[in-house]
Amino acid sequence: MRRRETLTAGAVTATMAAAAPAAAAPGGGRGPKKPPGNGHSTPPGLAKKDTLAFAAGDTLKIGCAVAGGGHHTEADYPDPFTSDQPYREVLAREFTSLSAENQMKWDYLRPAAATYDFTDADAIMDFAEAHGQVVRGHTLMWHNQNPTWLEEGDFAPAQLRDLLQEHIATVVGRYAGRMQQWDVVNEILDDDAALRTTGNIWLRELGPGIIADCFRWAHEADPDALLFFNDYNVDGLNPKSDAYYTLIQDLLAEGVPVHGFSTQGHLSTRYGFPSDLAENLQRFADLGLQTAITELDVRMDLPEDGEPTPEMLEKQAEYYRRVTEAALSVKGCSSLTLWGVLDKYSWVPGTFPGEGAATVLWDDFSRKPAYYAVQDALAEASGRAGHPALAR
Ligand code: XIL
Repeated sequence: MRRRETLTAGAVTATMAAAAPAAAAPGGGRGPKKPPGNGHSTPPGLAKKDTLAFAAGDTLKIGCAVAGGGHHTEADYPDPFTSDQPYREVLAREFTSLSAENQMKWDYLRPAAATYDFTDADAIMDFAEAHGQVVRGHTLMWHNQNPTWLEEGDFAPAQLRDLLQEHIATVVGRYAGRMQQWDVVNEILDDDAALRTTGNIWLRELGPGIIADCFRWAHEADPDALLFFNDYNVDGLNPKSDAYYTLIQDLLAEGVPVHGFSTQGHLSTRYGFPSDLAENLQRFADLGLQTAITELDVRMDLPEDGEPTPEMLEKQAEYYRRVTEAALSVKGCSSLTLWGVLDKYSWVPGTFPGEGAATVLWDDFSRKPAYYAVQDALAEASGRAGHPALAR
């Protein structure tokens, strides 16, 4: 394992020093603790060139989900994006792309049928622009995180169709020209690779033709944004990714403006690595599509004391490295997004009991082997090895 602990004080800019967490206790916070003596003592102030963003260069956009909403609303900490300044500094410094973890979902944007609340979505857009980052919009049509007034409302199909069309026109239109990619439809297939014709309100009430309409409406509202299908468990070649492959070919043949296919990449070291990831993305690229990895995290089964062993961390790093290398190897895979960067804000512990430690940083902002794995894979592809003071 390589270490970089030779960072000189001179390499630490005033801004970076200001980003240091006020009272960073190693392994503090809610996530698993950092195992003692594992050598991860990177100082909190980081040199500008010692970042994922620098290592990526122009190879691909390296992104992160912006924590807020969703499971965070029940957590005992304040809204991360608007109140955690050191975390904001990390988002600004390490990444070239941002995704709204929850702030652009229906339940967040639509407190009532007649109202929109764009406060936090706008703040993410402004933050990204202030830091020269692109944004991935997430998401316009989904079976989850819809407001109660919608799911339990008494709407006729024609009304639902109008609501969806108006939503897409309004939301996509608001950020037209400023959004790099939109996850237009999210998770429309279930675990048996069948369309979610009961659980997804839009598919249930309006039929599968609504999928093409969503893409058409989004394209009308922002002809510059790249429009994606996004789902989980479609990392490798399997019946679910096969179903997307067929569906997208049909839509392209009909002239529907579909531009991309993305796999979320919620991985667990419990399962084998999807070694055909690159091959899978490549077949979509061969259709002329962009591809992306949009929600990468690699969780693990935590030991009883909650602290991953060095071996577990190395295995996780290997997964992160292989995903990064796969993304870099596919032409037209232009975006790799991590679904969070600190365990204390990750959705994993609440969603997968007993699993955790899924992100690349410890809660005190020091780096796991997984961070270096991503950084090294990016640097290898870009030729940007980093600051001379950090040479190994
Ligand atoms: C998750 C968020 O991370 C949580 O905060 C929220 O409580 C639930 O949703 N697939 C997706 C994401 O497309 O929107 C999900 O995000 C994770 C799975």
